[in-house]
Amino acid sequence: MRIDILTLFPQMFEVPFGFGIFKRAIDNGLVSLNLHNIRDYTHDKHHTADDYPYGGGAGMVLKPEPIFEAVEAIKAGVKDEEAELPIILLTPQGRPFSQRIAGELSRNRHLVFICGHYEGVDERVQEHLATDEISIGDYVLTGGEVPAMVVIDAVLRLLPGVLGSEDSLLEDSHASGLLEYPQYTRPEDYRGWKVPEVLLSGNHARIAKWRREQIIRRTQERRPELLNKANLGFEDEQMVERLTTKRSQVNKDRES
Ligand code: ADE
Repeated sequence: MRIDILTLFPQMFEVPFGFGIFKRAIDNGLVSLNLHNIRDYTHDKHHTADDYPYGGGAGMVLKPEPIFEAVEAIKAGVKDEEAELPIILLTPQGRPFSQRIAGELSRNRHLVFICGHYEGVDERVQEHLATDEISIGDYVLTGGEVPAMVVIDAVLRLLPGVLGSEDSLLEDSHASGLLEYPQYTRPEDYRGWKVPEVLLSGNHARIAKWRREQIIRRTQERRPELLNKANLGFEDEQMVERLTTKRSQVNKDRES
């Protein structure tokens, strides 16, 4: 996959993608990461990328010209079939990012990310250049760089060959729309906190059942809205029923 990133701070990307899994993916040619400094597409001697907002107000706004020109330069270098190239603007006003969107983006061969800054980006970028707007959550960061890193991380790890084992993708929290079961490794007893006995039993059927129950229990306790959206099988539904009955009994006992 090819990724182009437009930013005022290209160096910010050197650390997250310069080590470990992503460095290996880049070195192996699975991913190419191209950083573009928005200032390189300005034409004045001060390389001005921002300006005061029309109508007044606090802060500065990123100018449209260098962003349009940077994207046009990228497009000029790619083949016609990439005319529908996704141009993603990171903004708190975008659609909320999720594992589903990561999966959707991972099916493209090429993605372009625009990192906004200051008080915002000239609205004409949203209207006439970006094909998608993504927010990583309902809070405001100082720029789109960290959000771009979050989105790119979630997308790249889905590409075949990037992670050591593709199996681990299937077990991720959110992969199935539910949270993940708890994991343990050695030692078996740490400071008196023991690994659940079932995991040491070697009984694969029991382990699988225990893990499924943990997935359901955790999701019900922490993110009940995910359970309502998930596609549960008959046995899962029965488990939800059992846990709900147990919980309401505990609450009743507490109240009385
Ligand atoms: N830029 C600033 N805050 C952001 C957010 N929450 N998501 C995406 N881009 C942003």
